[in-house]
Order: sequence, then structure tokens, then C-alpha cells
Amino acid sequence: MKVVIPAAGLGTRFLPATKSMPKEMLPVVGRPVIQYVVEEAVAGGADDIIIVTGRGKRSLEDHFDHNPDLGAWNSQPALQRLETLIETATIHFVRQRNPLGLAQAVLCAQQHVGQEPFGVLLGDSIYECEPPVLRQLRSAVDRWAPGGSAIALEVVPEDRVDHYGIVGGTQLSPTAIRVQQLVEKPRPQDAPSRLALTGAYWLSPRIFDCIRATPPGRRNEVELTDALQRLADQEPVIGVVIEGRRFDTGTPLLWFETNLRFGLRDPEYRAALERVLGEGPPVGPTSPPSHE
Ligand code: G1P
Repeated sequence: MKVVIPAAGLGTRFLPATKSMPKEMLPVVGRPVIQYVVEEAVAGGADDIIIVTGRGKRSLEDHFDHNPDLGAWNSQPALQRLETLIETATIHFVRQRNPLGLAQAVLCAQQHVGQEPFGVLLGDSIYECEPPVLRQLRSAVDRWAPGGSAIALEVVPEDRVDHYGIVGGTQLSPTAIRVQQLVEKPRPQDAPSRLALTGAYWLSPRIFDCIRATPPGRRNEVELTDALQRLADQEPVIGVVIEGRRFDTGTPLLWFETNLRFGLRDPEYRAALERVLGEGPPVGPTSPPSHE
């Protein structure tokens, strides 16, 4: 099973941290985000992963390569875990030569994907789902739209709808809809619902033609959400409110929150973190405000 991981974005919401470092390499309690994404893909059944990178993203390739310079450190459990992951799935890389948006990044994988349905997981979101998110999407397709597509959804507060792709449609079950409308980052008054795309997709290969036919949107990039609207106009696209959680790491605040949550339940860090949090706000220089 093939999974495409678009990881070519410039990380503009995370500057200057992402000026020379890919946002996908930011650590969440010891592991870079991209490793969680690959682990999720493998848990979802992937044995063939294609990561779409771009300029300045070479450290992603290095992360999934063996590093002989580390010598004996390679036998550390954390590195062994990574080795096992690398051996479980073949990981390919393709470069998006110009940052023309998410849909165009997916298009870069077309030749590799061919004519089969495939998964897409965004390179900055961590899922904690049982079953794994791509399995949930495939089950929905098998049940309601064999050969069709499915997208993972979560309910977001009204004041966050303009951060996400938002969908509307007809209810199939308490947690599934047949998607009819997709709007990328709408104003709250224009949003068809509060159901947001989380960044996990199971797509029929017809999406590639839809991407080619889609004009650039507001950000002057071809939006995957707009291409999905075309697909949904032609064939079934199922929206699934996922069982489980996804953690967005695409902005400093979201990344920080994710680290805190993961750290607070990690036996190695929990006590120290609780102590620091219990101390209240520290005295000292404040950092300049960071926007989300
Ligand atoms: C992208 C998608 C958006 C989706 C979001 C999930 O937005 O375009 O539809 O809701 O990921 O994180 P971006 O994060 O690139 O702004």
C-alpha cells in the first residue's frame, strides 16, 4: 500500500525556527514529527512511502538513512526502533521543485503512485488513533464507496474554521458523511460546518486529474481541498470523524502544546515538567510574541 507524505512546505508559520530546518524535523519529545508520521503510515498498512520534499529538506532523507558515524550508538533502543521502521517500509523521496502548494506536492508523486488508491498523511500532524487513521478511512470507503475516497475529519471550534479545510455533506452515520462541499479556510460565516480536514486522506487516483484541472486558490497555490471538491462532484468522497486524536505541530503554539501533552505522560519527563509548571510563570526576560 502506498502513502504519500507531502513535506515540502516552507514552514512560514514557524519562522525563524524553520528558516534552515524543515518543520517536519522539529522534535516532539525526542522524535522528529516526520518519524511519527511514517510510523502512522506503517501502522496503517503502508509498505511503500513517498515523501515529497523540497529545497533545504535533506535532513529528512538523512533521518531515514543508516548513519555509520554513530557506531555503537546505533544500538540504542530509540535508534533500533527507527531501524526497524526503515526496514518495514521502503521510503522514497521526490522533490517538489517549486513550493506551489499541497495539491501540487501530491501531484509530484503521481508517477510513483500509478493507478491505485493511495493514502496521504501531512508531514506535520501526529495521529493517535485505534485503528490507525488510514485503516479507518479505508474501512469507510469499503463500506460506503468501494473504489472511492475518504478524508479524515475532526470537529473544531467556530473561531478555528478559518485555519482548516471545512466540509459539508449528507450524514451517512453519526461519524460519517458523504462530502458535497469543501471550502479551504472559510470565514466562520461561510463555513458549511465545523468539520475540519485533519490532513489524512485515502484517495482514488482520479484525484490527479482533478488537481490538474484546479486553478490556484487564494494563497495562489492549488489547494488539495479545491481538487477534492472536483473529485466529490464526480464520485463519492466520504468524510470520517476519526476515532482518536490528531496533534497539529504546524505552529509554535500547537507544537508546544503537543510537546507538553506528550511530555506530561512520558515517565521520563513527567515529574520534572509538573514541577516546572507548578512553579508558575518564571521571572525573567520575556520572548517576543509569537503568532500562531
Ligand atoms: C492544510 C490543508 C487544510 C487542512 C490542514 C490540516 O492546511 O490545506 O485543508 O485542514 O492542512 O492541518 P495548511 O496546514 O497547509 O495551512
